[in-house]
Amino acid sequence: MSEKIILEMKGIEIQFPGVKALDKVDFTLRAGEIHALLGENGAGKSTLIKCLTGVHHKDAGTILLDGKEITPISPQHAIQMGISTVFQEINLCPNLTVAENIFVGRKEFKKKIINARARELMKRFHLDIDVTRPLSYFSTAVQQMVSIARAVDIQAKILILDEPTSSLDENEVQLLFNVMRDLKKEGMGIIFITHFLDQIYAVSDRMTILRNGKLVGSYNIDELNKLELVTKMIGKDMQAIFDLHPAEVAADAPDMLEAQHLGALGYPVQDISLELKKGELMGFAGLLGSGRTETASLIFAATRPTSGTLTINGKTVAAKKPFDAIMNGVAFCPEDRKRDGIIGDLSIRENIMLAVQAKRGFMHPLSRQEQNELADKYIKALSIATPDAEKKIGELSGGNQQKVIVARWMATNPDLLILDEPTRGIDVGAKAEIQRLMIEMCKDDVSVIFISSELEEVIRCSNRIVIMRDGSKAAELEGPFDGNTQSRILSIIAGEEVSA
Ligand SMILES: Nc1ncnc2c1ncn2[C@@H]1O[C@H](COP(=O)(O)OP(=O)(O)OP(=O)(O)O)[C@@H](O)[C@H]1O
Ligand SMILES: [Mg+2]
Repeated sequence: MSEKIILEMKGIEIQFPGVKALDKVDFTLRAGEIHALLGENGAGKSTLIKCLTGVHHKDAGTILLDGKEITPISPQHAIQMGISTVFQEINLCPNLTVAENIFVGRKEFKKKIINARARELMKRFHLDIDVTRPLSYFSTAVQQMVSIARAVDIQAKILILDEPTSSLDENEVQLLFNVMRDLKKEGMGIIFITHFLDQIYAVSDRMTILRNGKLVGSYNIDELNKLELVTKMIGKDMQAIFDLHPAEVAADAPDMLEAQHLGALGYPVQDISLELKKGELMGFAGLLGSGRTETASLIFAATRPTSGTLTINGKTVAAKKPFDAIMNGVAFCPEDRKRDGIIGDLSIRENIMLAVQAKRGFMHPLSRQEQNELADKYIKALSIATPDAEKKIGELSGGNQQKVIVARWMATNPDLLILDEPTRGIDVGAKAEIQRLMIEMCKDDVSVIFISSELEEVIRCSNRIVIMRDGSKAAELEGPFDGNTQSRILSIIAGEEVSA
């Protein structure tokens, strides 16, 4: 890391209706550094980036790039100045090919040339893929890499990554980190936004923390340990969140769910058998693509099972579609909330009500008062940052949108709640709130299936852990867990330990 400052933002202010999103924020970036930008959901991270990239216009403050004042007016303008961004919401064109996506909006190149150039770029990411296929053909992880490749290829001075790792698995994260380290050596300044604490320490040189639109401070990475960092982000002592654990389940508690040899024709997941007790919290561990989501999808009948049996609450059920599952007391909060959940033009209240209302039937509308009470309850419980329940969900920060969708499914009062990566993209404080709510629901005899890529939280929150590998159940571990559980799970995931 050199001492050369490439970017200096001073006294930045941005006012949205009812929210001061940024209040006199200073930020500096040096050449050849990876600088983590941190804060709770709604702290103002994305807004600061959007101000730098011309999406939002500042109400006050100055921006100096290489010592010269600039006023970015659009993302295109920012790119021309060498500021390149991978936004929190992937904004690529699914119907264009990989190569076209990398070069879209730039000088006309011959197809042959862009294909060759794209292939070369993807190699740098160790991705050997057919760049002439439409982007939609590939996984989210690959799509993410493509948007990073696009940013890298513009020979940027500054690269901004707004939560680039939320949909990547461990290997892909390491790959991205290697690319980041290479770029840093070339003198690029990188701004890295993430909610994964370990990743901050793995790759960053410095960090800047925001809270409620205000600057808390900038620090060298070795100046603050994790607990100090979290305390600065949340503004209070957070030791308690590292101490959340599930209640024990009685050995003779009745089954909530029993699946036997569940599968579907031509489906990547087959022969799933599991038993879940009332009040039990079951974690699903495994790599991306190992079949965790697909298993949940079978239980919820989002994919209709064609083999095996499913018993819920002692009743054999033959759910054909999610609505049947909902009527059987199952709720499923999906992983891809952008695609499957958020309706941007509706308010927070309306977004929370959707599943509850569907369950009750649209002939029996909830009274406005019931709606307000439910919405307010979850806004409070999940600390959703908003002035009130009537704000459009599309205007919330990314993490707060996710919390609303989690609330939608918690609010249906299910017997069995399946949460697919509910804490992804969510700050540490809110993560703890979701974990606490899951654990509390289990005390009320609700059963929970908790899918997460973060082993730490799976191990800490679960009574029992199912480990998925290559489309089937590789092992099942019974709690209470200890310090060896993590390495044990990792070796099962890697296929080194056959069964448990
Ligand atoms: N387009 C908008 N209109 C109105 N308010 C907005 C808009 N975009 C953001 N805000 C508000 O500005 C504040 C800061 O949001 P921002 O998206 O910068 O948070 P963030 O730190 O990126 O959070 P997250 O970690 O959840 O992505 C929030 O209170 C948010 O509701
Ligand atoms: Mg954001």
